[in-house]
Amino acid sequence: VQAEKGGFDSFMLKEIFEQPQAIRDTIGSRIDLDEKKVVLPELKMSDAQLASYDRIYIIACGTSMHAGLVGKDVIEKLTRIPVEVAVASEFRYRDPIYTDKTLMIVISQSGETADTLAALREAKKSGVTVMAITNVVGSSVAREADEVLFTWAGPEVAVASTKAYTSQVAALYMFALYLSQIKGTQSAEQIAEIVDHLLELPGQISQILADADHVRQYAERIKDVTSLFFIGRSLDYAVSLEGSLKLKEISYIHSEAYAAGELKHGTLALIEEDVPVIALATQPDIYEKMVSNIVEVKARGAHVLGFAFAGDNDLIKTVDQVVYVPKTLPLLAPILTVIPLQLLAYYTSAARGLDVDKPRNLAKSVTVE
Ligand code: G6P
Repeated sequence: VQAEKGGFDSFMLKEIFEQPQAIRDTIGSRIDLDEKKVVLPELKMSDAQLASYDRIYIIACGTSMHAGLVGKDVIEKLTRIPVEVAVASEFRYRDPIYTDKTLMIVISQSGETADTLAALREAKKSGVTVMAITNVVGSSVAREADEVLFTWAGPEVAVASTKAYTSQVAALYMFALYLSQIKGTQSAEQIAEIVDHLLELPGQISQILADADHVRQYAERIKDVTSLFFIGRSLDYAVSLEGSLKLKEISYIHSEAYAAGELKHGTLALIEEDVPVIALATQPDIYEKMVSNIVEVKARGAHVLGFAFAGDNDLIKTVDQVVYVPKTLPLLAPILTVIPLQLLAYYTSAARGLDVDKPRNLAKSVTVE
């Protein structure tokens, strides 16, 4: 087992460090470098059929659902098609509204999660076309879906998902870009600009990983707290949910992710002297609003760790400490901001002396309902 960990002290840390390669493999074969656009040769349906969908459901569980939340924002921004994200265990019992223009996307690292598979089967029974995003060739989800986009993250062993999440997000970027190409909702220049930035992500992830020690120091600070909060807006909120899940599943510290603008409707009551708040602020269109939310928690005594793009010299004026991620398009920020959050969960769990790879009560793949 020690050898399988490739010199790392846990599978999770190894898998965190495999993310540059996982992203490269997931996007590499799908980008036409000459034309600066996305190709999805694996799709069996015609472009005309794909272009005909006017509503998309994204169904998944756990971390895969969080990747879906990023996918929703990206697909809606790039294609203007409404997307709804739901957890599979809710959706399958919901009597969903389908039309012949509905596409369902199921996301599952393992391809074996019982609730996700059941939702897929229900949809197929209703005649809905299902596209899977999965990491396991030959899995039930891969075999039963009409269409499959594989993530090429390689085997993921640690219960807490890391490289599967970023690969799922990368696959969703590929899908959203392809859909916008065939629908003509983005210009060739806009597509090329996003493609250029996508190609930089693996190197940027490596830069973040090289600075992991910074995060380790912060983990020492929070390792004995009883509760903490993650806040963000839009894509930053989607990533906050994943950061919070990662931390709670392996460190057993209570944490909540909140849409920053919603704090004042309840959660703000829990902010008192020295409560740690992790605040993501990478989205320019709501940056000022986000800063006001940070001021609200600071005024109640919170200790705030901000997340910003390199070159942002403002956030540090409002927060206690800042984690900088390399500059990319705001749309692509999730793949970068999630990396220090994964590291934070890992280092906090390790500092508490816990079994990082096998948290209590949890399983890698939940094949029961
Ligand atoms: C379990 C795992 C999570 C995972 C979820 C969905 O709860 O512990 O890490 O996100 O299942 O798994 P899937 O294989 O469908 O992505």
